[in-house]
Amino acid sequence: MKKTPVNELLEVKYPIIMAPMFLVTNTKMMIEAMNSGIAACIPALNYRTDEQFREAIQEIRSNTTSKGLGINLIVNKSNIKVQQQLKTCVELGVDFIITSLGSPKEVIEQCKPKGIKVFCDVVEEKYAKKVEELGADAVIAVNCNAGGHAGKLKPEEIIPLLNKHCNIPVISAGGIGAKEGIDTIMSLGAAGLSIGSPFIACEEAHISKEYKQACVDYGKDDIVFTTKISGTPCTVINTPYVQKTGTTQNWLEKLMSKNKKIKKWVKMITYFNGMKSLEKAAFSSTYNTVWCAGPSIEHTTEVLPIKEIIKRLTT
Ligand SMILES: Cc1cc2nc3c(=O)[nH]c(=O)nc-3n(C[C@H](O)[C@H](O)[C@H](O)COP(=O)(O)O)c2cc1C
Repeated sequence: MKKTPVNELLEVKYPIIMAPMFLVTNTKMMIEAMNSGIAACIPALNYRTDEQFREAIQEIRSNTTSKGLGINLIVNKSNIKVQQQLKTCVELGVDFIITSLGSPKEVIEQCKPKGIKVFCDVVEEKYAKKVEELGADAVIAVNCNAGGHAGKLKPEEIIPLLNKHCNIPVISAGGIGAKEGIDTIMSLGAAGLSIGSPFIACEEAHISKEYKQACVDYGKDDIVFTTKISGTPCTVINTPYVQKTGTTQNWLEKLMSKNKKIKKWVKMITYFNGMKSLEKAAFSSTYNTVWCAGPSIEHTTEVLPIKEIIKRLTT
């Protein structure tokens, strides 16, 4: 792969990031990815306590010699732990941070002086310009093919648009599961890629074998958006359970989430219940199969070690 400013920013062989995935990414995956020449990012929210979070960062550091250790911080109000998580990242000196769902201002202010790079998830030009002004090192252009909370624009729309309006590198996120896709994205002007779903069915993930197998068995046409998990559209595999329970909130939930007095609480309860159902489905074999994944699982044909997934993506 040709070298880009992202190789330099992250000091890695390939300008690729294993994207942060709530509940899925673990320390073993991080270590294998970083030792295979790419950067890797884990959500801070995958840890319940600060002690566990610290231990995870230290475990990754002591088992890798390369740079490219990233932490994903959710920077909106739903994450009440963000201050402590940021403090730990700065104290332990991670290499980069990916911010999502809010303003990265404070993260940038605290990380820049320490040399920690800050990349920000954006879905449109307006936010990209804003985070560049705040001092972000790169933008992650989340397109409409991404797993999780996808954007609205196609890669061929968002990458040139952000390149036209920003002077920092544009990293593309969404829809890529094979080498040919990487070449196409790079030819659109991306300086790197953030790839999530193709890593779900890896040997190192601690999720249930049913979740991994679902990523092998289902394809791009089986991905649907649901608002049932967090209130915001999120991609899930259209399992019989999802088909049965639907992908939109029922009339009572919708009505309650419009009521000025209680909507804040309704949102919190929806989010809490959604996270619980995702957690249950990710780790145990259950009938309530709500599995988060994006259309790029189309390219997942077997459960493989991380090293092999990266080899197939890069050569
Ligand atoms: C199972 C799953 C969990 C995710 N969790 C997070 C998360 O915790 N934080 C975040 O910023 N993005 C999250 N994402 C989005 C990814 O970081 C990334 O943007 C996305 O996977 C890129 O699209 P792709 O899946 O087609 O590669 C998640 C995606 C998936 C598939």
